[in-house]
Amino acid sequence: MPFTDPQNRILQLRDELNLHNYNYYVLNAPEISDIEFDRLLHELEDLEKEHPEMEDPLSPTRRVGSDLTEGFEQVAHIHPMLSLANTYSIEEVDDWFARVRTAIEGEKFNIVGEMKFDGTSISLIYENGKLVRAVTRGDGEKGDDVTENIKTIKSIPLRLQGSGWPETFEIRGEVLMPWQEFERLNSERAFNEEPLFANPRNAASGTLKMLSSREVARRGLDAYFYYLLGAELPYDNHFDNMMAAKKWGFKVSDIMTCLESIEDVDSFIKYWDSARRELPVATDGLVLKVNSLRQQLNLGFTSKSPRWAIAYKFPAERALTRLKFVSFEVGRMGIVTPVANLEPVLLSGTIVKRASLHNEDIINTLDIHEHDMLYVEKGGEIIPKITGVDETKRDTDAQLIKFVSHCPACGTPLIRVEGEASWQCPNKFGCPPQIAGRVEHFVGRKMMNIDGIGEETSQQLFDSGLVKNIADLYDLTREQLLKLEGFGPRSAERVLEGLETSRLAPYDRVIYSLSIPFVGDTVAKKVAKAFPDIDMLMSAKSEELSAVKDIGPRIAESIVEYFSNPINIEIVNRLKAAGLQMSASENSSENHTDRLEGKSFVISGTFSHHSRDEYKELIERNGGKNVSSISKKTDYVFAGKNMGPSKLEKATSLGIPIIDELQFLAMIGEEDNIVTD
Ligand code: IVH
Repeated sequence: MPFTDPQNRILQLRDELNLHNYNYYVLNAPEISDIEFDRLLHELEDLEKEHPEMEDPLSPTRRVGSDLTEGFEQVAHIHPMLSLANTYSIEEVDDWFARVRTAIEGEKFNIVGEMKFDGTSISLIYENGKLVRAVTRGDGEKGDDVTENIKTIKSIPLRLQGSGWPETFEIRGEVLMPWQEFERLNSERAFNEEPLFANPRNAASGTLKMLSSREVARRGLDAYFYYLLGAELPYDNHFDNMMAAKKWGFKVSDIMTCLESIEDVDSFIKYWDSARRELPVATDGLVLKVNSLRQQLNLGFTSKSPRWAIAYKFPAERALTRLKFVSFEVGRMGIVTPVANLEPVLLSGTIVKRASLHNEDIINTLDIHEHDMLYVEKGGEIIPKITGVDETKRDTDAQLIKFVSHCPACGTPLIRVEGEASWQCPNKFGCPPQIAGRVEHFVGRKMMNIDGIGEETSQQLFDSGLVKNIADLYDLTREQLLKLEGFGPRSAERVLEGLETSRLAPYDRVIYSLSIPFVGDTVAKKVAKAFPDIDMLMSAKSEELSAVKDIGPRIAESIVEYFSNPINIEIVNRLKAAGLQMSASENSSENHTDRLEGKSFVISGTFSHHSRDEYKELIERNGGKNVSSISKKTDYVFAGKNMGPSKLEKATSLGIPIIDELQFLAMIGEEDNIVTD
């Protein structure tokens, strides 16, 4: 590379990286590999560190977010953010079209047809080609300043491209979570037993209001733009202005179409009513807008919405299908959930075979009888929902679905806790799905993160009789594992190493892993902080526990009950003896970061600044995962001295980056703490 001074190199890298972001996130046409992109980004990060005078809040390095957001400032909108009049009927769209024609007194007019994106609206302000502020809709008059979070959405230009933009303008659009990302996030949440987002809209708005922009950056939001406002717009019509915005770097949907007549409008609606299912993002309808800005001005606004636009909403997708039977399924906490097993039916592009009925009250409210024809809906929701029964199709002698009185797995009579909707199986230590479910929870990524044991292996270990509770995991031997179907020396080794590494998992995760009812990861962190040692926690009284902020009496009671049971005490003591972290010490969650979130490492060789085990712990503490053998899925090989030649060869042939100690420490932000001699 020819010599360039660092200041110029910084500017050059910023331009290059902005362009690569645009190619990747807006055009979907990357021109360089992810590795090459990361290399350029790291180079820029390093140079920016060395040259703080070159600081720029719009630098591509700022798109990774930070944890420092303290809250959102409320900002008044320059133009109020109104909503759109909407309808579900094509006739009403035709009426609107006729009203527009009358109002503009026979002048020629065009309509722009576009998607109604189902996310959360955002208003961006640009000055001199730079993003200065991003504000949510809020109450329409004022919203939250979410600029830092918006900057992490890589398809949003921080600096505009090309030329011809007004000195100041506002652009509005919709922040979205693409289906693929939504499904990924929800399956991660399901695995961690966190509440699922009902639809991508909730996921997008929830994400945008998160206080950690670093977490926002992780969530893969996207944004489409559909409305340009300002005193000096380049064109006198909406369509051309949006095409100009596209040239400045904004993501403007290709679906935006100029329509000449009412027939065009109707066929646009009919076409997209079904074709929208193929789109990568959620839409809940179409928006039709008068194209000419002058005509828009003449038509004006009602108090709530513009007269020059209307939204046509797609009807919720609904299907009618036969109930085969209701199964009753037992979770790790003993809660029995009724599930409708259905004749398979196609709904919003997926085949639905099952839908949760949640609890007894829902069965009764919907009045579901055996073999009823049920309405299943998806609407914007990904999770199918039973919304009704077609009673005309019911057999005369069909019986109302009765909730089971005994546990379908172990036969124990069910109990219903007062004030709760669910029935529970109280046989915590003898009911197979509860035990297997607790083992599965224990090994999960956000819990003890045991590499080599997933849902299937947990079940297999339980079925084989080797693991009857979570403490049994630590007694597993190589020989026992090798006898299991599908296990070879490598998979056995992986499980044993996974168990070994889990001994380093911090105390709060151990608490979370125990499956104490009502103790999720957030509560576990609070409990670990207030009772920094397991013995303190085990002897804590209900009043002491509920004195901790955010721990209510129900959680407190649940913890006391858990530790009053001799079986649990024995399990915890065995886990302690196995070497798990049972006190906060320096492993407390405060030392945790998500810098290596989702990245897997294979450690090999010997090291000088920390021991191998310490590095394994550092990987875990920063959200990464230790794996024992190199595969396509490995993100990094962390190599010390004397790394085995076969590992080196494999890493090289698979193109997996090999990092050394200094690079690793830089990744976790500890490069400055190294003492060199
Ligand atoms: S135009 C003055 N165009 O729908 C009206 N809105 O119900 C400006 N939306 O708050 C809005 N896609 O969040 C417009 N292509 C589109 C849209 C769209 C989605 C949302 C937007 C707005 C809501 C109105």
